[in-house]
Amino acid sequence: MFAQATEQRPPAHRYLDVVGAAKSFKGTVVMDNMNFRVAKGELVSLLGPSGCGKTTLLRIIAGLLEADTGDIILGGRNVSSLPAHKRNISVVFQNYALFPHLTVAENVAFGLRARGMSKSDVKAPVAEALALVRMDTFADRPVSALSGGQQQRVAVARALVVSPDLLLLDEPFSALDRKLRETMQIELKALLRSRGITAIFVTHDQEEAMGVSDRIAVMNSGRIEQFADPSTLYAQPASPFVMDFVGLSTRLTGHVIAQADGIATVKTHVGKVRANSQLVVGTPVQVGVRPELITPDPSTEMNQIKVQLDDVMTLGSKTVLHGVTTGADKFLCELPGIRTGYARGETVTWGWAVADTLIHEVPA
Ligand SMILES: Nc1ncnc2c1ncn2[C@@H]1O[C@H](COP(=O)(O)OP(=O)(O)O)[C@@H](O)[C@H]1O
Ligand SMILES: [Mg+2]
Repeated sequence: MFAQATEQRPPAHRYLDVVGAAKSFKGTVVMDNMNFRVAKGELVSLLGPSGCGKTTLLRIIAGLLEADTGDIILGGRNVSSLPAHKRNISVVFQNYALFPHLTVAENVAFGLRARGMSKSDVKAPVAEALALVRMDTFADRPVSALSGGQQQRVAVARALVVSPDLLLLDEPFSALDRKLRETMQIELKALLRSRGITAIFVTHDQEEAMGVSDRIAVMNSGRIEQFADPSTLYAQPASPFVMDFVGLSTRLTGHVIAQADGIATVKTHVGKVRANSQLVVGTPVQVGVRPELITPDPSTEMNQIKVQLDDVMTLGSKTVLHGVTTGADKFLCELPGIRTGYARGETVTWGWAVADTLIHEVPA
């Protein structure tokens, strides 16, 4: 009867629970009261500009860096006081951190050997891990003879061979060129999914985060501004920072001049813009709209602005129109396919649905 109490498992949604983590370096606060929760099997990204604390959080979770305060709970167990090698967390570093003088197989075997497994016992798991990343035929090569993409596969095999409870990857694709990066993202995502592995990717690349993650934590100065799935982040950014960091937008500053039935009318430098919002008259705001939601051929009930074109970029799958920037305001419109008939310097009318208008209060 009471034996069951010890059998209790943590709820799946709090498989990893970072509770109130704080970190300062020489008196400079880098992270203050960080709370971050990941479910079992989730693929999550930490996304944010350089210096916002992504690597710091990752290292705290891994046990490579000690937080000043706070706890790290993994699978219901408080691992805060455990050293890195006792947490059963694997890390793939940005530069892969492979041992250059060892072969591919020896690199992958390293963690198992460190845990006391014999040379003959590691053979099967190492071969399996290398097969997973399609590097089995390279087992006896020195890692120094591998390309960047191959080294990355070896680093992933080395991380997975120990059956980690959690996989952490710090900018794992940043050393690869664009095409290879996309291939590796797709491959790795499929591999982690098929094995049910819980993983946290660190990246400053929003497309990468959107592509590999179930949810993305957008970080700014040591804080999480929004933690949501990619479509929510894009369609309903919680702050101007998230709106600006995830995707592109036309955005205008102004202030609310009328409020009626949950529609705020905002006066901007280029005319009035309406948005679904309860914000009251006088509130300083930023309004925005995603560029693909703008039409150059608006109907009367839409928001409308006049924009002078600064540049027309024909990208094949889409045509991007840039308006002349005024102050902090930015004007961007994306039309599908190749569009001719637009020229720099001409003035155009853009429109979009009131419901598609993003609005955030900003400091006055
Ligand atoms: N060992 C350290 N000593 C002093 N400052 C550090 C140290 N590590 C990181 N920082 C500072 O902490 C902040 C966050 O760094 P980091 O976590 O590496 O950011 P990110 O990975 O998002 O680029 C930065 O301002 C960085 O300069
Ligand atoms: Mg970093």
